[in-house]
Amino acid sequence: MSILKIENIVKTYGKGSGLMKALNGVDLAIEKGSFTTIIGRSGSGKSTLLNIAGGLTAPDSGRVLLEETDLYSLKDRELSKLRRKKIGIVFQAFNLIPEFTVLENICLPSYLDQSKPNMKFIDEILDFIELSGMKDKYPYELSGGEQQRTALARALSTKPEVLLADEPTGNLDLKSGEQVLDAIRYCYRIFNQTTLLVTHNLEIAQQSKRVITLQDGSIVCDSAGEMI
Ligand SMILES: Nc1ncnc2c1ncn2[C@@H]1O[C@H](COP(=O)(O)OP(=O)(O)OP(=O)(O)O)[C@@H](O)[C@H]1O
Ligand SMILES: [Mg+2]
Repeated sequence: MSILKIENIVKTYGKGSGLMKALNGVDLAIEKGSFTTIIGRSGSGKSTLLNIAGGLTAPDSGRVLLEETDLYSLKDRELSKLRRKKIGIVFQAFNLIPEFTVLENICLPSYLDQSKPNMKFIDEILDFIELSGMKDKYPYELSGGEQQRTALARALSTKPEVLLADEPTGNLDLKSGEQVLDAIRYCYRIFNQTTLLVTHNLEIAQQSKRVITLQDGSIVCDSAGEMI
C-alpha cells in the first residue's frame, strides 16, 4: 500500500529570465514501511522534492497525498498540525534550539501540538540511539553527531508515519555520520516508519531497498538496491 503519493509535481523558482525549474513533473509512490534513498547531483532537486513531500514547500502544480490526504489542499494550520503529527524531518543543519536542553528539544513537537510528550517512547528512542545520559545537556555541549541524533529523536518523538532525512550526515565527519545513519537504520528496523533519505553517498544508497535517482528535476532511475 502506498502511504505517500507524489503526483506530477512541478516546482519552479525565480521569475522571468531567471526561471529555474527545480522539479519537472515528478511522480513517485512510496510504500508504507519502506526505506527509500534519493540520490542525484547537487541541484538535481532532491531537497526540493523532500520539502514538498514533507509539506514544507507548496509545488506549482501536482499533488502530494499522505494516507490519501492531499497536503496542499489543507489550510496552513491544518497542514502544520498534520506535519507535526505524521512527518518527522531531519535536515543537514541540526536546527536545534540552543536555549533548550536535549530533552526539551525532543519534546518540542509535542509541546507545539499542546499534547503530552510520550516519555516512555522518548526514553526508548534515547536508549536506542545512545543519548540517555545527555537529556539535560544543551546543544553547544554536544558533538555534531550527538546533535544530529537529538534532531533524529525529535523527528521520531511523535511516532510519525514518515521520516524524511535530507543529507543528515552532510555536516559530520565520517564516524559521526556512520553513527547517525546507524541510528536511522536502527530506528527504521525497530519502529518501521516509512523512511526517505537523501544522500550523496552511493554506498549508503546501495544499502537501501529502493534507490531513486534525480537528474535536472526528473527521476531518471528507480531501482532496487540491496536489502537494508
Ligand atoms: N529557494 C530557492 N530559490 C531559488 N532557487 C532555488 C531555491 N531552492 C532551490 N533552488 C534551485 O533549485 C534547484 C534544485 O535545488 P535543490 O536544493 O532541490 O537541489 P539538491 O539536489 O538538494 O542539491 P544539493 O545536493 O546541493 O543539496 C537548484 O538549481 C537550486 O539552485
Ligand atoms: Mg539539497
